[in-house]
Amino acid sequence: MSASLIGKRIVLGVTGSIAAYKAVALLRLLVQAGAEVQVVLTESASRFIAPLTFEVLSGHPVVQDLFAGHQDMKHLSVTEQADLLLVTPCTANTLAKLALGLADNLLGTVALTIQCPLIICPAMDGEMWEHPTVQGHVTGLRGRGVMILEPETGALASGQWGKGRLPDEAVIFEEVCNVLVKGRDLQHERLLISAGPTQEPLDPIRFLSNGSTGKMGYALAEAAIARGAEVVLVSGPTQLKVPRGVSLFPVQTAEDMLRALTAHFHWATTLIMTAAVGDFRPKQALSQKLKKEQWDGAALQLERTPDILLALSAQRTHQRMIGFAAETDHLLEHGQAKLAQKHLDMLVVNQIGGNQSAFGNNTNEVHVLTPHNPPRFMPRQTKRQLAGKILDCMLDLPPVHLAQPTVLHKSHTG
Ligand code: C5P
Repeated sequence: MSASLIGKRIVLGVTGSIAAYKAVALLRLLVQAGAEVQVVLTESASRFIAPLTFEVLSGHPVVQDLFAGHQDMKHLSVTEQADLLLVTPCTANTLAKLALGLADNLLGTVALTIQCPLIICPAMDGEMWEHPTVQGHVTGLRGRGVMILEPETGALASGQWGKGRLPDEAVIFEEVCNVLVKGRDLQHERLLISAGPTQEPLDPIRFLSNGSTGKMGYALAEAAIARGAEVVLVSGPTQLKVPRGVSLFPVQTAEDMLRALTAHFHWATTLIMTAAVGDFRPKQALSQKLKKEQWDGAALQLERTPDILLALSAQRTHQRMIGFAAETDHLLEHGQAKLAQKHLDMLVVNQIGGNQSAFGNNTNEVHVLTPHNPPRFMPRQTKRQLAGKILDCMLDLPPVHLAQPTVLHKSHTG
């Protein structure tokens, strides 16, 4: 919530939804962050919240009427040099107008004259949101590069439970900062990210796993979405909230993870393997619980799981491939060897063990290795910050052009 929006000009369009009160709280956040905000109300919005509230908080007169005494062509002056048009809450009615280009009120007219990005935050009843007409408008707008912040699922003003709630002002504020501060430099990227641990079952209630919490992979997914990428996240079991806009494919075992990643590999521009994939699995997963009385003292028989990176590099055509390595010692030596052995474009090495271990911590320090440049050390910072820098390094990688998929020596397939 500390981002600065000083110097940014935002046109805030508010429409006639009960959620209009949330636009007041959002306006306060935007102004506190330093933005210059011009509020445009639709006629029905002004029935929910008096224009005076927005005028006091924004420090500017609210504009709402297309025909009220405008020698100055209000719809043009409002949008002049605007950095962002943000319509929140957006009713089904205004959504339709924006999709079709109707200009029968000031907001619709403004939307047709702006040159800046448009973010729409719809809020409506669940059945309206699911209606094919509304979904058609959403698809059409997205196709034109408009950002639509999905409504949330929860209790709706109608008393029903469903998808249609306007996200809290903090969520919308963050989206605004993503667009205005960080930009959308990944909008042509399709990232396939693996995260979390795998679990290799021994019997229906026991498994072999590790201490990975998935935080790094989820942070990367969130950072990439914020910069405009499409993200598919293939995740082992974690306790984390899936970042908005990310397509999640939950998996349990290394084998499941390989299958899910293979299914998306050709779609992806980059594979980022943050998952702590188990290297071994019980040779036989029992179909019934192994009772302690049944155990005869025999050692657990293990076998190798598939090496996912190695298996996918054999199918690679254009994808950048980024691995993560968790090491306890000789980080750089082991890292360099892994970078070459797995045919990677980049390897992020972090330390495991000790009280600042990478697993589970919100912060980390890493070395970023690439084949042709010296290692780059990134000192301790939050995983979300690291994620941003790792994505910057990804963009610096030379493009991959392989005429044929690389044929590698056979990978372990267990
Ligand atoms: O060889 P090591 O397991 O240390 O390599 C780590 C990298 O390889 C990580 O990016 C991890 O996601 C990936 N990996 C894999 N398949 C495995 C084990 C690890 O792709 N079976």
